[in-house]
Amino acid sequence: MTRLILDCDPGIDDALALLLACGSPELELLGITTVAGNRPAGITAANACRLMGLAGRDDVPVFAGAVRPLAQAEARCNLVHGEDGLGGVVLPAGRAPAAEHASDFIARMLLAEPAGSVTLVAVGPLTNLALAEIKHPGLLRRAKALVVMGGAAFRPGNITPLAEFNFHADPLAASTVMESGRQVHMFGLDVTSKAVMAADWIESLGMLDTRCGRAAHAMLRAYALEDPLLHDACPVAWLLEPSLFKGEACTVEVDWLPGPNEGRSCARRLRSDSSTDGERVNAIVYTHVDGPRLLALVRERIATLP
Ligand code: RIB
Ligand code: CA
Repeated sequence: MTRLILDCDPGIDDALALLLACGSPELELLGITTVAGNRPAGITAANACRLMGLAGRDDVPVFAGAVRPLAQAEARCNLVHGEDGLGGVVLPAGRAPAAEHASDFIARMLLAEPAGSVTLVAVGPLTNLALAEIKHPGLLRRAKALVVMGGAAFRPGNITPLAEFNFHADPLAASTVMESGRQVHMFGLDVTSKAVMAADWIESLGMLDTRCGRAAHAMLRAYALEDPLLHDACPVAWLLEPSLFKGEACTVEVDWLPGPNEGRSCARRLRSDSSTDGERVNAIVYTHVDGPRLLALVRERIATLP
């Protein structure tokens, strides 16, 4: 059983990651934390509550988090997922998020649970994780694993020529997490650009004839026109079936100073874990995924939901 906290900014591909997690009994969801990213913090929190209600998982608490990045005054959002963040798909209003701030929940759980027992999966800007680390130095090293969707190690970005959206939305937070001392499983555009959603697969979700299948189908039909990539499901799928992916030991630094390089993830492959280059492997950068098996896993698990 993997005990995890899923930090996200729903967002349609975040929604698929949430549904995949809810449909996977191998995972114990300790809580969902949300952050400003695709859409402002109030929207991403409300969307997470709606999605957990849709999946019949109101037993899992949702914690709203950072409303802005560490070093910029305003959240850097986008409209790829629509104004409402869910492609205009109207879901029943969920319950309200818990009162505790997301970063405080993350810190409380990592400090209260035995070291190495809680996995953090983050599929939005990393502000909540960075805030928790800054308030409790060394905190992230207590995680069993840090599994992140973000960055673009050996290929262009998707929000600037050099940067991927999550890392660009809060570059200082991304740098803080990459430098935390806990190796990051990094699912950047290098691998998620290969997680392509086929049109017939999207249609097959609608044929599940369940509320979750219908909602996923409707959201993806809107989203796939702009970005037909299943970015955020990759980290969750890796927890379920690591053999779907191939990665490389790297050292990764994130440019966080304002300017054209902001949010860029500078990666160098290293020959081994105990590198002779005198550089530390702080990330496993994933570069390949078995796309058809990934799509089959996601559909199989969504099919188990109401
Ligand atoms: O670059 C893709 C990432 O940015 C995904 O997490 C998507 O949801 C957006 O947040
Ligand atoms: Ca996301």
